[in-house]
Amino acid sequence: MKYYRIISALAGTMALAWACTSPMEKLIREDVEVAKAQIGALMAASEEGDTIRIPATFKEGEIKYVPIDDWVSGFFAGELWYMYELTGDEMWADHAMKHTGNLDSLQWLTWHHDVGFMVGSSFGNGLRLKNIDGYKDVMVQTAKSLCTRFRPAAGIIQSWDVKGWQAEKGWACPVIIDNMMNLELLFNATAFSGDSTYFNIAVSHADKTIENHFREDGSSVHVVDYDPVTGEVRGRYTAQGCSDDSAWARGQSWGLYGFTMAYRCTGYERYLAQAEKIASFLLNNPNLPADLVPYWDYDAPGIPDTYRDASAGAIMASALYELYTITGKELYLQKADGMLETLSSPSFRAENGTNGGFILMHSVGSLPHGSSIDVPLNYADYYFLEALLRRRNIE
Ligand code: GLY
Repeated sequence: MKYYRIISALAGTMALAWACTSPMEKLIREDVEVAKAQIGALMAASEEGDTIRIPATFKEGEIKYVPIDDWVSGFFAGELWYMYELTGDEMWADHAMKHTGNLDSLQWLTWHHDVGFMVGSSFGNGLRLKNIDGYKDVMVQTAKSLCTRFRPAAGIIQSWDVKGWQAEKGWACPVIIDNMMNLELLFNATAFSGDSTYFNIAVSHADKTIENHFREDGSSVHVVDYDPVTGEVRGRYTAQGCSDDSAWARGQSWGLYGFTMAYRCTGYERYLAQAEKIASFLLNNPNLPADLVPYWDYDAPGIPDTYRDASAGAIMASALYELYTITGKELYLQKADGMLETLSSPSFRAENGTNGGFILMHSVGSLPHGSSIDVPLNYADYYFLEALLRRRNIE
């Protein structure tokens, strides 16, 4: 009888706790359960055999893996760190460490700008969560490598080397809006080393981006090509959007996220103002669907009969949560919640055991290059998990 009472009191308390759980908390718990199953399966597949592989997408029934110098190589390790943070289960941290260690040589990579993404998502999260010996050194060395791409006359970090299709375009020193995302590594490197060089380069790059990438309405072009000798702008183009004048969706999300982060790292009001200007362009855009997950380009031909980009939605949701935390403006929270709800619905979130182990369906890599169209992408999942964490912290 006594046990019966204890059990029914416990059951009552649990039912009450469940009933008091907010809809967002329930959604986050449900997403975490899906993520455990999906990312767990992907992790097992990536660790089959003797070497660790890096899952990037799922196409034609197969998981596609990338080499470590690919720009997306840090995101899977980052997802494992986020799974550790979301669940508190050390098992995820053990695997995250293995996948992060696999990326050690990235600190010496100098032939493109994406090392901020790659090392920030992997080593950066590992350092933040576990303070692992040596991770700080890797981050500072990576920042040094990134700074070899700084072009003082133009005041920017060159994104891509000019070869292959970039050379065919006749570019000299292309800088893409995505590059804002690499600056967090530089801000961190100054904090870790005390050397202000990294901070100053990041600020110069962000200021030049405001000056040269943005249009009056708050949208940004994808590529600005500079003359590295005179520093003059040679032209403005797109690489992954539908036209030079369009607003490529993921690029807008990178800008929003990048300037919100730049404000967090510097406290400079001009970066917060830029982030809010971008948010206003996006949230008032007539081509942003009612469910808030963007088409692959805000000016794509054929809207609404064209592809959505879940990755652009996940990055935007995560950025808006941070912007809400900074400004306290309810609109950002409401919109980010709307994005998270749509991404967590069957329209975008895969059923367990499908989608090759990725969480989200329907992202677009680069439509003009015919690459990764309407597929899962590891960075969509990475920023989705980050958005869950940011939302949970707000709760
Ligand atoms: N940074 C490359 C992309 O967003 O596709």
